[in-house]
Amino acid sequence: MDETKRNSLRQLVRTPYSLVALSHLLLLLSPSKTKAAKSEKISLPGCPDSCGQVAIPYPFGIGLNCSMSEDFVVFCDATNGELFFNNKNGTKPTPYTEDLSILILNISISSGQVRVNGPIFSRCYNNVTERVSRRSFSFELDGTPYVFNHDKNNFMVIGCDTVAYVDFTRIGKHSINEAGCISRCDGLEDLTNGSCSGIGCCQTSLPKGTNAIYVNFDGRYNNSRVYDFNHCGYALLTTEDDEFEFNTLYITTDELNAKTTTVLLDWTIGNTTCDVAETNLTSFVCKSENSNCSNSTDGFGYLCKCKDGYEGNPYLEKGCQDIDECANQNSCSNPAKCHNTQGGYYCSCPLGWRSTRNDFRQCELNVVPVVTVKWR
Ligand SMILES: *[C@@H]1O[C@H](CO)[C@@H](O)[C@H](O)[C@H]1NC(C)=O
Ligand SMILES: *[C@@H]1O[C@H](CO)[C@@H](O)[C@H](O)[C@H]1NC(C)=O
Ligand SMILES: *[C@@H]1O[C@H](CO)[C@@H](O)[C@H](O)[C@H]1NC(C)=O
Ligand SMILES: *[C@@H]1O[C@H](CO)[C@@H](O)[C@H](O)[C@H]1NC(C)=O
Ligand SMILES: *[C@@H]1O[C@H](CO)[C@@H](O)[C@H](O)[C@H]1NC(C)=O
Ligand SMILES: *[C@@H]1O[C@H](CO)[C@@H](O)[C@H](O)[C@H]1NC(C)=O
Ligand SMILES: *[C@@H]1O[C@H](CO)[C@@H](O)[C@H](O)[C@H]1NC(C)=O
Ligand SMILES: *[C@@H]1O[C@H](CO)[C@@H](O)[C@H](O)[C@H]1NC(C)=O
Ligand SMILES: *[C@@H]1O[C@H](CO)[C@@H](O)[C@H](O)[C@H]1NC(C)=O
Ligand SMILES: *[C@@H]1O[C@H](CO)[C@@H](O)[C@H](O)[C@H]1NC(C)=O
Repeated sequence: MDETKRNSLRQLVRTPYSLVALSHLLLLLSPSKTKAAKSEKISLPGCPDSCGQVAIPYPFGIGLNCSMSEDFVVFCDATNGELFFNNKNGTKPTPYTEDLSILILNISISSGQVRVNGPIFSRCYNNVTERVSRRSFSFELDGTPYVFNHDKNNFMVIGCDTVAYVDFTRIGKHSINEAGCISRCDGLEDLTNGSCSGIGCCQTSLPKGTNAIYVNFDGRYNNSRVYDFNHCGYALLTTEDDEFEFNTLYITTDELNAKTTTVLLDWTIGNTTCDVAETNLTSFVCKSENSNCSNSTDGFGYLCKCKDGYEGNPYLEKGCQDIDECANQNSCSNPAKCHNTQGGYYCSCPLGWRSTRNDFRQCELNVVPVVTVKWR
């Protein structure tokens, strides 16, 4: 039986987050942002639209007044240019794990995703005390509009005598499920950098709608057997887009303890589909006239998208702006002339030329039988 599962899941977790390191944060952002004049607003009027290198598009915002709801309140550490999730009070970051606030790396409006730093859970053996020490906790998003993206995130286990489980809950399901994998090896010679297929590293995916994970290490595998070259086992979530790869140094050193990974979260608005949401225009948040509603693929809520030919922020009035296709030299090919329209564009041909039958972007010579007529 695994060593932590005897405790209730909830007990595993809720060590209050300590705010000490973040206590002197300034909310002021560098005012000297020189933005291209034509760029559209991505945030509400008067609200900061970035923190360090990270853009803050509405519905996200600093403070309740700048965000759509408590769930989208973020917190800027202007000193370090770092953006975090806030809790409902606007004081401490959440969702959170035991000792890790959630750092936001990037927010995407068009895909309804946010990239965040993920924790690395570890369990180390000490051959002197013959005890194990654990950094084993949870990553909980339940009660928020966020879920772990199921396409891109993997649960990865690293170690030569490590078996780790991930217990998880899912949107709309009341049961707790479990996944996990076995990572073992007899010596370093079996390991290959970049390979995660059971020898020193194993991985498994999470199902759609996963909104909380609880990591446990199996106590029967504790690194005492492989102590001469591997002291610790690790478990983590990582996205495929991340550069994170298995490295033999993670077996032989404790380098991984100082690292974080990247996790991809999906977010949605509300808990109804578009057809229901659209019936109440007061609460419907696709405010731009050139936006479209799209059902979330995670099984609850909806997202707003700019219509084809428009780009920007569909959650803001006038947020979706016409794309000037003619700014792209390749929209019409020479000698065709480009004409931008609302939501589209067309190409026109000079005198003596006509549009190519199969490609409106091309012109061809308007060849007519050459008849030379001479007038007297
Ligand atoms: C939010 O807006 C309301 C009304 O517009 C204002 O009274 C309040 O002070 C604002 N709160 C913050 C934190 O700016
Ligand atoms: C919100 O903050 C107040 C005081 O700052 C505190 O008493 C309360 O427990 C906090 N609530 C939450 C949910 O953190
Ligand atoms: C953040 O996301 C935007 C839009 O999805 C993308 O253009 C940009 O390159 C991303 N930035 C980083 C640092 O990943
Ligand atoms: C613990 O491990 C170290 C290095 O691997 C070794 O030098 C030491 O003898 C071991 N101690 C015990 C008590 O096994
Ligand atoms: C470590 O694992 C070994 C072999 O399974 C077992 O005999 C030992 O009791 C374990 N030690 C701890 C502290 O769990
Ligand atoms: C894996 O890469 C690290 C450097 O990142 C290197 O030190 C190590 O020797 C490599 N391991 C193998 C088996 O090639
Ligand atoms: C889901 O919708 C119901 C009403 O249909 C509402 O009471 C509830 O708060 C909503 N939950 C979330 C998470 O938005
Ligand atoms: C529409 O949404 C608003 C704001 O959430 C709410 O106050 C109102 O009761 C809703 N109207 C209906 C008909 O559900
Ligand atoms: C959203 O889902 C509902 C129910 O499955 C469906 O009736 C509706 O057509 C979908 N709307 C869009 C915009 O995909
Ligand atoms: C808007 O959404 C509807 C259905 O969801 C779709 O049929 C339509 O093509 C979309 N329009 C644009 C311009 O994207």
